[in-house]
Amino acid sequence: MFEIGSVSIENRLLAAPMAGFTDKAFRIILKNHGAGLVATEMISAQALVYGQEKTMFMLDLSGEEPPVAVQLFGSDPRIIAQAARIAADRGAHIIDINMGCPTPRIVKNGEGAALMRDPNRAVRIVEAVVKAVSVPVTVKMRSGWDENSINCCQIAVLAEEAGAHAVTVHPRTREQLFSGKADWSLIRAVKQVVKIPVIGNGDVTSPQKARQMLEETGCDAVMIGRGCLGNPFIFRRTLQYLETGEIPPEPTAEERINVARQHLVLACRFKGETKAVLEMRKHLGWYIKGLPHATAVRARMNQARTLSEIEAILEGLSHRLTQMYPDEH
Ligand SMILES: Cc1cc2nc3c(=O)[nH]c(=O)nc-3n(C[C@H](O)[C@H](O)[C@H](O)COP(=O)(O)O)c2cc1C
Repeated sequence: MFEIGSVSIENRLLAAPMAGFTDKAFRIILKNHGAGLVATEMISAQALVYGQEKTMFMLDLSGEEPPVAVQLFGSDPRIIAQAARIAADRGAHIIDINMGCPTPRIVKNGEGAALMRDPNRAVRIVEAVVKAVSVPVTVKMRSGWDENSINCCQIAVLAEEAGAHAVTVHPRTREQLFSGKADWSLIRAVKQVVKIPVIGNGDVTSPQKARQMLEETGCDAVMIGRGCLGNPFIFRRTLQYLETGEIPPEPTAEERINVARQHLVLACRFKGETKAVLEMRKHLGWYIKGLPHATAVRARMNQARTLSEIEAILEGLSHRLTQMYPDEH
């Protein structure tokens, strides 16, 4: 258990916001598998304030088990504050401010990671959002803009002074995008300069790495991004490992296929079958990655247009695997 402001988080393993992936269906799957906190995809503050339909849909948290963080990106303090109020009114339990997105389309507008090189604006944004909502406010940042301007400690201190209730540090620079290794020593450095909880993020792909990050950096919680794609099992397995010191077995093929199917059914319910079947291709490929016949099965799923077609393909895979490895089922 740990606290972000007034919100209690059940455990120290959080799921990272991922545009294109952490929609309602995946958030429900992640929560069911033990994630202590889940987050929406990043949502444009501007679009939210305009009331754009697609954006409002991203804000739908109905039926989800709390807490859920809504992540906003923007560059205008007044607009982000207004968007934060809309999100809080719609049930956001935490507002997270994106200061890490490295995409050119975003940073050219002074949003996302661009805020790392505009500390004044970053402060005004945090202050405005804290003032606008009564729920806790968090900031997710990179280590800096480039290797010559590593300033996550400075931004973390400023965010704390401006009223932020926690910070997440993904210690890669904007220039690095997702290349190289996350420099965990910077998570430790941030932990040493602020009192609010520090959430470490970057390259956690196994229970052992999660423990290593907690131990090496002293961070209060670990956030997992790419490591949970097709692998929500990482949360429960890591929780068990942290508790018992024993590494739980990997999920069986049957479990992976079952969860892939559950995820697809949820996506169809929330987005409609046509859209969900298309959007789920990547997730489905990740769920079955490494299983026998995975390449051929993925190719067939990518041709499929309906839920029942995909269900039949997954059923077929499951059946073939049961025949190959009867003991594991
Ligand atoms: C496909 C993808 C989409 C992402 N979208 C977001 C986002 O919307 N907001 C955000 O703060 N970070 C986003 N990130 C960054 C992740 O939250 C995380 O900081 C990063 O992947 C490092 O963690 P990991 O090594 O555990 O993946 C995204 C990353 C990926 C791979």
